[in-house]
Parts: sequence; structure tokens; C-alpha cells
Amino acid sequence: MAKSKTFSCSACGASFSKWSGRCEACGDWNTISEEAPLSSGPASRSLGAKRGSPITLTDLSTEEAPPPRTLSGMEELDRVLGGGLVPSSAILVGGDPGIGKSTLLLQAAARFAAAGLKTLYVSGEEASAQVRMRAQRLGLAAAPVKLAAETNLRDILTTLDVERPQLVIIDSIQTMWADNVESAPGSVSQVRAAAHELTTFAKRRGLSVVLVGHVTKEGQIAGPRVVEHMVDTVLYFEGERGHQFRILRAVKNRFGPADEIGVFEMTGMGLAEVSNPSALFLSERGRPTPGSVVFAGIEGTRPVLVELQALVAPSPHSQPRRAVVGWDSGRLAMILAVLEARCGIPFAGLDVYLNVAGGLKISEPAADLAVAAALLSAREDAALPADTVVFGEISLSGALRPAPQTENRLKEARKLGFTAAIAPAGGKTGTKDGLALTRATDLTGFVGEVFGA
Ligand code: TYD
Ligand code: MG
Repeated sequence: MAKSKTFSCSACGASFSKWSGRCEACGDWNTISEEAPLSSGPASRSLGAKRGSPITLTDLSTEEAPPPRTLSGMEELDRVLGGGLVPSSAILVGGDPGIGKSTLLLQAAARFAAAGLKTLYVSGEEASAQVRMRAQRLGLAAAPVKLAAETNLRDILTTLDVERPQLVIIDSIQTMWADNVESAPGSVSQVRAAAHELTTFAKRRGLSVVLVGHVTKEGQIAGPRVVEHMVDTVLYFEGERGHQFRILRAVKNRFGPADEIGVFEMTGMGLAEVSNPSALFLSERGRPTPGSVVFAGIEGTRPVLVELQALVAPSPHSQPRRAVVGWDSGRLAMILAVLEARCGIPFAGLDVYLNVAGGLKISEPAADLAVAAALLSAREDAALPADTVVFGEISLSGALRPAPQTENRLKEARKLGFTAAIAPAGGKTGTKDGLALTRATDLTGFVGEVFGA
């Protein structure tokens, strides 16, 4: 039987059964080409045998314990993985070039190796000697990690076959090259083929694989999104240049909560774990200034206090500027609209800037009220009382919705010496352990409470 051909778009990675001049998915011209078949994997294996005979769910013994996870001992990493490394799992770690992915994974490799996993670190970007030098700088020269400098996929699979490691780190997937695929390393077909081969090999042999992926300017892992679908866990390593904080964020995790973060600090000796991120994010805060508000947030399972900074100034432009760093600009527009429509506080003719200090990206709706407070504080040029945290979601009607995990947020605020909190109505009020809790039902009530308007 003739093998059916597949074609894929080199721009977006969409695949098709026939060639065309224009990609139906992304609209680009002349980007479709035939994909070479993969050298291994289920498709190229002969049929027959009893491989793949199905079992029913009830056949799975309930006695059977889940496979034991391995802890690296780096708590920030273990938590993001959902409680350690799951055997036979595939993980993608994405991030900007130079953010510290190789540093993180070399340190993690050393820790996992010390925890008893046979670990292989494959570098396609640096020679083994360079990796060894880096390891020396990190104080890991004695770690029982095997190194290989290799980009040819066939050679890597052979090495894996011979060495039989339990954990392999591929740094990076963009440098890998399958000799049966006729396109340059880093192209969509190459990245996809390499990721597919490595993940299927890993699943079949029961080894865990970590793929390092560079992220493009648009913030996506270069190559097709399909790599994200091929793996169990997708982690992003983020941070601002000029800041030493680095955040490892789980955006997808089959073995744990997504949105969990681990916080690190880049030092001269590699990445150091930050076990109390709130203290770090608030460390640059000076005296209370207008526009500055501390938001008591939850990142994954952990409370994190972070400073929001707003600046509101008369605009010289006919179209005032709205600039946001670390938060969603659509959400900012919504809050400005609600402040105007429900509280009669206009921002027309004013430039608005909003920044989340420390380079953290917040996606929680519970930050709404803290954002509103920062905007009002900046607009009125009135600082909020010192040592106050704010959280709560704002609805389009101007009503406030309670945020999940209120008690955890308050606990973290107390721990860091805050003495007041403002939260949506519904629940206890009053002072507990030195922290006075005020509740507001709607945005208008909140504005009156805080700014006496
Ligand atoms: P690297 O891990 O090579 O980044 P990536 O693999 O994501 O491209 O890290 C590169 C940066 O980290 C580089 O600019 C130097 C800095 N760095 C330190 O500050 N301290 C260290 O101990 C190491 C190893 C790197
Ligand atoms: Mg690197």
C-alpha cells in the first residue's frame, strides 16, 4: 500500500494531506512542503505482535502505587513539576535565549543525578568542555552527570540505547537534526521530528526527557506549537534582563497544577532558590508613594505579595497611552471603564502606565482591586496607608467578588508585617493577629473607604 504523504507549513506547523501554495491555517504563501517520514516510532513499525492490546480500566490494579517520583531537592523546581520528576515523562522548558535555561538544567541534572537517577546531559550548543567549565563554575564538577555534545538525532538515540539513562536533557531542541528530514536544524519539520522521536523513545524506554526550547520574540517556542502537545509538562523560564529574578512557570502539567511558579535568583554561582518570593518582590519598595499598592496574590499553590505601580499623567496625545508590564492590557481597559462608568472617575485625556514590580507576570483576576487602587492612588496623588494589602475581583457592574484562598493571602501578609488588608465583602472582618481586615461590597464603597470620595 502506498504510504500517504503529509505536508506541513513551515510558518505555523499546520499539517495537510495535500500540497497547496498557500497555508489555510496561517495564510502564508509558499510555506508548505512535504514532510519526510520519521525513522522510528509506531508508524514505521510492522504491524502484528500483541503490542497495544487494550486493557480495561478495572484491570488496573488499585493496589498498584503510582510510580515513585524523584525529588531533585531544589524545592522551587520540584513544586513546579507537581512534586518531583515523574518517570517516563516528557518536559519542555522554554525561555528567551540567555535567560538561564542551560544553567538551570545543568544544576537540576546534578541534583537528580545525586538523587540516584542516571542522568545524561546532551548539549547541541556547547562543546562538552564548555559544559564542563560551566559545571565547574557552578561547583558541580564532581556531579555524576554524563555529558554529550551531539546534534545528530540518530547518534543521540544510539547513545541513549547504549547508556540507558533514566533522565536525559536535550539542550536545545532547535539544534537537533534528524538526517532523514530535509530541512535546516531549527526549522519546524526538524523541531517537530526531533521532539517526536525523543518523546516516543522516552515513553517506550521509560526514561524522562527534558527538551530545552528557545522562545521567539513573539513569546512562542520556536517551531510548531505541536511540541507543546507532545510533552506532558511545559515550563517557561521567565525574567527581565537587568533583574536577577527568574521565574519557572508551569503552563501545562499532566502531573500537577498548572500556574505553579518557582522563583530563582541568578547569582555568580548559578541559580539560587528563593523560598520567600514575597520578601524579594517587596525588597525594592521604599516609602509609600502614590500609585503603589501591594497585591496579595496566589501563584499556583503559594501566596505571593507583589507591588503594583501605576502612573497617571495628563496626555499630550489625542489618543492617551495605556501601557502595561506584567498584566493583561485588556483587563486594564476593563477596569478603567468600570471606574468611569460605575464610580464616575474618568481617565480620558490621561496617560496610564501600570507595572508589576520585580518582573512577575500576574494573570489572576483577584488583582483587579489592587490595580484599581493603584490607578486611583496615582490619579488622586494620594498614597494608600502603608502596610496595607489589597485583593479582589471586580465585575463589570462594579461589584466585588471574593477571591479564592483569602486566608492564605492574609497569612502571608501577616508574615511579612502588613497590618491592614482590604478585600471583597463576604466573610470575617476585624483584626486578627495584628492585621485589620476591611471588606468592601462594591467599587464605589471601596473608593469611599480608601480615598474618602
Ligand atoms: P544560560 O544558562 O546560558 O542561558 P540559556 O541557556 O537560557 O541561553 O545563562 C546565560 C546567562 O546567565 C549569561 O548571561 C550569564 C549568566 N550566568 C550567571 O549570571 N551566573 C552563572 O553562574 C552562570 C552559569 C550564568
Ligand atoms: Mg543555553
